[in-house]
Amino acid sequence: MKKAIFEKMNQNGWNLSVPLIQGGMGVGVSLSNLAGAVAKEGGMGVISTAQIGYDDPDFAGNEQECNLKAIASHIKKTKEIAKGKGMVAVNVMVALQHYKEHVLAAVKAGADAIICGAGLPMDLPALVKGSAAKIAPIISSRKAAALILKSWMKKYQVLPDFIVIEGPKAGGHLGFSAEDAEELTQETFAEEVKQIVEEKAKYEETYEKKIPVFLAGGIWDHKDVLFAKSLGVDGVQAATRFVATEECDASEAFKMAYVNAKAEDVKIIKSPVGMPGRALNNKMIQDLQFGNHKVKRCYHCIKNCNPAEIPYCITNALVNAVKGNLDEGLIFCGENVSKITKIETVHDVVEDLMFA
Ligand SMILES: Cc1cc2nc3c(=O)[nH]c(=O)nc-3n(C[C@H](O)[C@H](O)[C@H](O)COP(=O)(O)O)c2cc1C
Repeated sequence: MKKAIFEKMNQNGWNLSVPLIQGGMGVGVSLSNLAGAVAKEGGMGVISTAQIGYDDPDFAGNEQECNLKAIASHIKKTKEIAKGKGMVAVNVMVALQHYKEHVLAAVKAGADAIICGAGLPMDLPALVKGSAAKIAPIISSRKAAALILKSWMKKYQVLPDFIVIEGPKAGGHLGFSAEDAEELTQETFAEEVKQIVEEKAKYEETYEKKIPVFLAGGIWDHKDVLFAKSLGVDGVQAATRFVATEECDASEAFKMAYVNAKAEDVKIIKSPVGMPGRALNNKMIQDLQFGNHKVKRCYHCIKNCNPAEIPYCITNALVNAVKGNLDEGLIFCGENVSKITKIETVHDVVEDLMFA
């Protein structure tokens, strides 16, 4: 008989038979197919809203409208696939120029939860006011946790419904300096995780509200999930492992880059978003040694981005990658990517992570 590590979360608007979040992955890596499959297994499937409408024939020059349309259609499709199981969430980057519009569109389309990373979502409670959507920040330090808890309570009398802690081994944009992202390990980051758990516990006690915490970054197998649990968290978030699945929305070429990746291929890079990121070393990254890639057109994706000064266009690089144009694409990945040896099913990944 298989045994679940964590308790189910199915009270107060939660509907998780496994306390597992599949991390949002932009551009286009976690859309309805992957998120729906994860929700169907009883987890939280997360759609990334970053340039979500990238494959709409009208996208060029019409990005904002296509993105808003795609947020609604992917949430609807994810729910159809999930058939009432699990939860359907969106990941919205705070750094996006249309962050607020994306949150509002997701609430309108009935997302069960809104998870915000790449910046602190200081005004998120105001955006979801009156809706049943659960809200969560992604944070990487006790300081950030304390700031969000204090400021949401003071300004909105609201606490996060849950918190995602993203550690230094995660994929995509990182809430660490490049040095810390390289040097910190799950073990050395453990103390920070315990402090975040302690910080939110003070609010839980004072306001009598449970705030579940999910740990992300390098969650590979059951052993990692057990380690996370030992730090006092309530669940985990995993992303890299879900890329090499049949259901993942990325191209076959993107998935095979994961299958073929070796440990030495993983690099910390600079992103135009203003944060370091973790990605697979490839031609695009190597070419950057010889100078910037000229930005031919601007997709108006990131706040405060100046196309004349950035090393490359992040939208262009991520869209190229997800479509399978790998030489000209940025292939975001977690530190554990080299452990992937085959394409699995979402069902198998969920079983492997959550049950002993
Ligand atoms: C391909 C890829 C794209 C990602 N894109 C986003 C994103 O758009 N927004 C975000 O908050 N996190 C993003 N992440 C981070 C994941 O959601 C997740 O928290 C992290 O990768 C967890 O670590 P793991 O990949 O080792 O499981 C991305 C990760 C990957 C691998």
